[in-house]
Parts: sequence; structure tokens; C-alpha cells
Amino acid sequence: MKRNLVIASTLMVAMLAMPALGQIIPGDSTTYPSVGILNSPHNLNNYPGVTVPGNRVCMPCHTPHNASVSGELGALWNHAVTQETFTMYSSSAGQPEPPSKLCLSCHDGVTAIDNYGGVTSTGIVLTGSENLGTDLSDDHPIGIAYPTSNPSEFNDPTGFAPGIGGGPGVQLVAINGLDRVECTSCHQVHNNGLGSFLRVPIQESYLCLQCHNK
Ligand code: HEC
Ligand code: HEC
Ligand code: HEC
Ligand code: HEC
Repeated sequence: MKRNLVIASTLMVAMLAMPALGQIIPGDSTTYPSVGILNSPHNLNNYPGVTVPGNRVCMPCHTPHNASVSGELGALWNHAVTQETFTMYSSSAGQPEPPSKLCLSCHDGVTAIDNYGGVTSTGIVLTGSENLGTDLSDDHPIGIAYPTSNPSEFNDPTGFAPGIGGGPGVQLVAINGLDRVECTSCHQVHNNGLGSFLRVPIQESYLCLQCHNK
């Protein structure tokens, strides 16, 4: 009897400690919901007016062969690549390179989202706040090296917490020997569980505080 009570109360405590269904706890990646690409805005079939043949959702962005951008950062790219010249936040940053350039190949608001391998584009471009435009000087800087010797302002990247889907959280991208902040530092293009394709929650500014020591 006494033993049963102990078990029951232990269970109660365990249940109380469990998060309410759907509650996101920044720092506890087991509470981050996962929403795969099929049910996300990155399934172009979900965009009004666009149809991806055979519901091949990867195809607008990737191809197994003859990619339009080569090399590891090119991610076997199958989409038209932006031809725009961008105004950067930081004057020291050069023009966007992959992976950021891949994002901007739709989010520049100029390149048609349905312009990809073997498909005749109907010329649909992103509008509204999804369209970052070609002026990136009003957006969080990208294409910049992460300051490694500034511990009072920036956290040590080896301490970045895990992210959505059991994958890496905030991450830096190695380009030309520098660890840089790019679009994919904050965004996980394949998983929309946290909304805005974020790698870690924006609640309590958890995302920002991964890097910024404020
Ligand atoms: C809207 C565009 C888009 C769609 C759709 C898309 N991806 Fe990606 N994918 C990217 C971009 C951009 C990168 C490179 C940046 C990065 O690694 O996050 C990438 C990288 C990858 C990588 C290498 C890095 C990693 O995350 O493992 C794999 C593998 C991949 N994609 C698989 C897929 C598969 C499989 C599908 C379909 C189920 C798919 N992607 C759909 C944009 C897309
Ligand atoms: C093939 C075109 C394409 C590419 C490439 C692409 N996106 Fe998107 N993205 C879209 C479309 C379409 C939407 C939905 C826009 C809408 O609903 O108005 C979207 C929406 C988003 C959203 C908003 C999601 C939400 O919850 O509303 C984010 C954030 C985003 N994309 C980031 C990225 C990043 C970062 C990359 C590169 C790693 C990228 N995208 C590459 C087409 C693309
Ligand atoms: C430092 C982190 C960070 C970087 C780098 C970053 N973003 Fe974002 N992005 C965010 C956050 C956070 C949000 C969600 C903002 C919100 O909900 O108010 C967002 C939202 C978006 C949206 C949705 C806008 C909307 O109003 O619906 C798009 C599209 C997007 N980002 C694309 C990009 C692209 C493309 C790049 C690279 C050029 C990029 N982001 C770089 C953090 C970042
Ligand atoms: C991946 C790491 C990373 C993440 C995540 C991140 N930042 Fe940054 N942020 C940087 C770096 C690096 C700089 C450039 C600092 C420099 O060049 O002095 C920067 C610059 C800034 C600046 C401009 C500072 C200046 O002096 O011009 C602001 C403001 C800022 N970030 C706010 C945010 C906010 C808000 C978030 C969350 C939505 C965020 N950051 C997420 C790394 C990050």
C-alpha cells in the first residue's frame, strides 16, 4: 500500500514536470515540434499557382545530377540562381555566396520561385515580408565572420545548443577558411516546426542569445 503511494506520487511529480502538450521550452530540444518539408511553405505545391510535377517536393531545389551550382555548399542545386547585386549590411561583406545565395534565389523577390530544372516557369515571385529584396542592409548581417576573440560580446560556438529535429542548433558556415554567419546559421530550410524555419526557438530570444552575450 505504502509502496503504491510512493509510486503514485512519483508518477504525479513526473507528470507535473512534463511540459504541457505543444509547449516549447527553449533549451530542451525534445520539446521542439518537427514539421517536415511536405507540410511546410517550402513545399512549393503549397504556394498558390505553383504545381510541382508528381509532388516531387525536393525537385524545385535539388537534383541528383547536373546541378546548377557545384561543390558541397551548392547542395546539388536545381533552381535558377539569383543574378542580382545585393546591398549588404556590412560594407566589409562581399556578395552572398552559397548557402545564402541559394535562399536569395527565391527570397530576392526577383527570381521566379517556379524557375527550376526542366520546368517552364510561370514567373511567380515572392511578395510581402517573405521578399527580402536586394537591399540586405536592413536585415541581420550575413556573409560575415563570427568574431572568435570577443568573449564579452559573443559566445563560444562550441557551446551552441542542439536544434530542431535532433540536428544542430545555430551553426556557422565555413567559407574560404572563415566561420561565417549565413542564412542557414539561424534557419533550417527543411523543418518548420518552430515556425519561420528556425533552428532553435525565438522565445525568450533564445536564438539571439546563442551568439550574442547580452
Ligand atoms: C526550398 C528549397 C529546398 C527544398 C524544397 C529542399 N531543400 Fe534541401 N537544401 C536546401 C538548401 C538551401 C540547402 C543548403 C543549405 C543547408 O544545408 O541548409 C539544402 C541542403 C540539403 C542537404 C544537405 C545538407 C543537409 O541538410 O543535410 C540535403 C541532404 C537536402 N537538402 C535534402 C533535401 C531533400 C531530400 C529534400 C526533399 C524532401 C529537400 N532537401 C528539399 C533547400 C531545399
Ligand atoms: C525555391 C524557392 C525557395 C528557396 C530556394 C527558399 N525558399 Fe524560403 N520560402 C519559399 C516560399 C514559396 C515560401 C512561402 C512564402 C509565402 O507563403 O508567402 C518561403 C517561406 C520562407 C520562410 C517563412 C516561413 C514561415 O513560417 O512563414 C522562411 C523563414 C524562409 N522561407 C527561409 C528560407 C531560407 C533561409 C532559405 C535558404 C536556406 C530559403 N527560404 C530558400 C521559397 C523558397
Ligand atoms: C541571425 C539570425 C537570422 C539570419 C542570419 C537570417 N534570419 Fe531570417 N529570420 C530570423 C528570425 C528570428 C525570423 C523570424 C522573425 C519573426 O518571427 O519576427 C526570420 C524570418 C525570416 C523570413 C520570414 C519573414 C516574414 O516576415 O515572414 C524569411 C523569408 C527569412 N527570415 C529569410 C532569411 C534569409 C533569406 C536569410 C539570409 C539572407 C536570413 N533569413 C537570415 C533570423 C535570421
Ligand atoms: C549565428 C550567430 C548569431 C545569431 C544567432 C544572431 N546574431 Fe546578431 N550578429 C552576429 C554577428 C557575428 C554580428 C556582426 C557583429 C559585428 O560584425 O560586429 C551580428 C550583428 C547583430 C547586430 C548589429 C550590431 C552592429 O554593431 O551593427 C544586431 C542588432 C544583432 N546582431 C541582433 C541580433 C538579434 C536580435 C538576433 C536574434 C533574432 C541575433 N542577432 C542573432 C551573430 C549572430
